[in-house]
Amino acid sequence: MAGSLVSSTNVQARSALDWIDEALVELDAAQLLRRLRINERLGPVRCRIDGRELIDFGSNDYLGLAAEPRVIEAAGANHAHWGSAASPLVGGHTPSHERLARKLAEFEGTEAALVFASGYAANVGAITSLVGKGDVIYSDELNHASIIDGCRLSRAAIRPYPHGNATALAELMADDSVTGRRLIVTDSLFSMDGDAAPLVELAELADKHGAMLMVDEAHATGVFGRTGRGLCEELAIEDRVHIRVGTLSKALGSVGGFVSGRRSLIDWLINRARPYVFSTAHPAAACEAAEEALSILMAQPERGHELQARAAKLREKLYSQGWNLGPSSSQVIPLIVGGAETALELSQALFQQGFFVPAIRPPSENTVMADHSHDLVVLTTASNEGDAKLITEVLEEEGIHATVDGEFASGFLADAPMTVRVLVQKDDEAKAKETLQRIRDEDDRIDWSKVDVGEPED
Ligand SMILES: Cc1ncc(COP(=O)(O)O)c(C=O)c1O
Repeated sequence: MAGSLVSSTNVQARSALDWIDEALVELDAAQLLRRLRINERLGPVRCRIDGRELIDFGSNDYLGLAAEPRVIEAAGANHAHWGSAASPLVGGHTPSHERLARKLAEFEGTEAALVFASGYAANVGAITSLVGKGDVIYSDELNHASIIDGCRLSRAAIRPYPHGNATALAELMADDSVTGRRLIVTDSLFSMDGDAAPLVELAELADKHGAMLMVDEAHATGVFGRTGRGLCEELAIEDRVHIRVGTLSKALGSVGGFVSGRRSLIDWLINRARPYVFSTAHPAAACEAAEEALSILMAQPERGHELQARAAKLREKLYSQGWNLGPSSSQVIPLIVGGAETALELSQALFQQGFFVPAIRPPSENTVMADHSHDLVVLTTASNEGDAKLITEVLEEEGIHATVDGEFASGFLADAPMTVRVLVQKDDEAKAKETLQRIRDEDDRIDWSKVDVGEPED
């Protein structure tokens, strides 16, 4: 009897979760189901996935610091104790945390800094400490998910403004009769499109309305600015930005996040930022690694400048091949192909050729709208000119394929004389013809007089 009771409970428990199975099937059908893949890192720009060695164009280790022997050694050095054992206010704040925070403040040129367990936690912690009910947040519509989640958790009113549009923000702010605090928050370099926020204009609006300005430099730290502090440094607006957020897990080759600013801001976060207060402290070993990486970056800021130069060259080459790179002006270079299926196919084709270039699709990437799927190329400085040349050679081929394959209006490869090949099975010639016809009808950017239409492939 007892046995049947247990089993009926199990059946009930199972059926209450059936909606998940159905939702997963739907995601799969829409080519949006994610699966974890084991990515074994083999060095700065090499990895192994599914037994295959690849050149890695999907890493955020922009300066190759995660693979620097000095950084690796620092992560393992001088530890009698692994793990943090307590939250920072209770006992988890070690000399490694203190040293890293001081070094970050020195690097950022601010009075103080605070280390969080992740960049995500830094954004959520900072926003929820700064605004609440009765306050207003102005947030770029393509801000990173961690900013958006911080906004939502804060319970302040959220006024999203169109991506990068300071004029629209100005109108929004002028209209508002706000009595509470105001916060403008933005990524400095957008993580998916690789474009920069209009920071100077945002600083002007913050000044004008007495608003706080918070800038997340996650993808710009180490890459932009004379000393590598990011786009606020590059644009000489550091003094006008009240809260600067960064992560240790991209160019700084470790893991964790930080906030830098005036001393009282940091003291406030120590008291109020819930992800800081109520979570076990970031591991000391990760702090040691980040501190070493920071020393390298401070001594060699040219690493970032070299990365920018290489990224500019790669963008130029990809443009000349006709790829749609969106507004990218950085080392984050999206290949915009406009559909999840196409993005996956392109990523897979590159995988076959020995490159790891992840397909970025909704919904896990908060900022990618359903009609705007990317294949995202991230160029790391350690990926030398040779790697960049190799991938552009392959992409030259893939561009031709992608033009005729799938649902999107190509938008790239408009001028170059080319051979068009259709990526469908030979026995599906009807579909090949139909696809070609559709593209002819829909895409007036291709000069078809220059196009040599080849035979369908096997
Ligand atoms: C703009 C931005 N902010 C914050 C984060 C979160 O940083 P972390 O990965 O250290 O949690 C990311 C990570 O991708 C990001 O792109």
